[in-house]
Amino acid sequence: MITELKDAEKHLKVKGLPNPRTEAEYIFCHLLNCERIDLYTEDAELNQFQRQGLNKLISQRVKGEPLQYALGQTCFYGFEFKVQKGVFIPRPETEILVDAVLNKLRTTNHEPRTNILDLCTGCGNIAISLTKMLPHYKMFASDISEKAIHTACENARLNNVSCNIPNEDSCLRTSSGSRPFGIEFRCGNLFKPWEEESESFFDIITCNPPYIKTKELKDLPKDVKNEPKRALDGGKDGLKFYETICKEALFYLKEKGCIFFEVGPDIANAVRQILSKDFYDVKIIKDYNGLDRVVVAWIKY
Ligand SMILES: C[S@@+](CC[C@H](N)C(=O)[O-])C[C@H]1O[C@@H](n2cnc3c(N)ncnc32)[C@H](O)[C@@H]1O
Repeated sequence: MITELKDAEKHLKVKGLPNPRTEAEYIFCHLLNCERIDLYTEDAELNQFQRQGLNKLISQRVKGEPLQYALGQTCFYGFEFKVQKGVFIPRPETEILVDAVLNKLRTTNHEPRTNILDLCTGCGNIAISLTKMLPHYKMFASDISEKAIHTACENARLNNVSCNIPNEDSCLRTSSGSRPFGIEFRCGNLFKPWEEESESFFDIITCNPPYIKTKELKDLPKDVKNEPKRALDGGKDGLKFYETICKEALFYLKEKGCIFFEVGPDIANAVRQILSKDFYDVKIIKDYNGLDRVVVAWIKY
């Protein structure tokens, strides 16, 4: 086993992949359905079928396909998520945003009636992780990509979170007309899917929008270029989504409502300035590398 693992590592290294040992470990854990430690303590061998799988995964990686697409899954906030080409791959730094929301709710007296909206939800990682941690809150999530919303619904089921089936049943409601707990997913441009909701409907809005500057897209690593451009392109200065969302959020947020944005470290101050117009107590939270990563603000009334 160790020999096969080392061979795979060598192969990935020769092809110039940056973390060959870690990637080889992920691939073997996936094929053997085991934990990393088992690779070194158990005496498992790959069977013929698994060996074919190994060759296929290595060749996908060598062609620049992200490992998460090749495996069809990733881990976020300790939960498993399916991902596929056409859907953004969750990043570990986005867990800072989930932590920030949980910390806020621990320190304020929000009731279980709290409505949380996750815009640009992608595969649903933020919405689903929050729902797992806060099962009595009402979660709403949307994305412009149908493929993302379809994947997010699959991920809700994978994580035992109830959700609607968008298009077939665009609203999640009980026979009495009230909304049960779980996530209501909708597909559409930013707030468009929520237009029929009343003013001041949401207590909290979370969003990790596309924020790469258009001119920087061409310099991204090969595997990031495999992700959908629509999930990355934040316009000329990377701020396009923050500007629109901040304006429209004023209608949808409740009094004392707040907004949590993930940001690129280079635009954190610009996002703070955009928010300062209509929000107060704007705070920047750093990630584990000491980089500005989340901006939080409360609505001014
Ligand atoms: C950076 S990804 C974030 C995905 C996920 N929330 C996460 O944190 O990993 C941005 C997401 O915004 C979506 N998106 C892009 N333009 C949009 C728009 N106009 N309205 C709604 N969603 C949009 C993309 O499809 C993509 O899923």
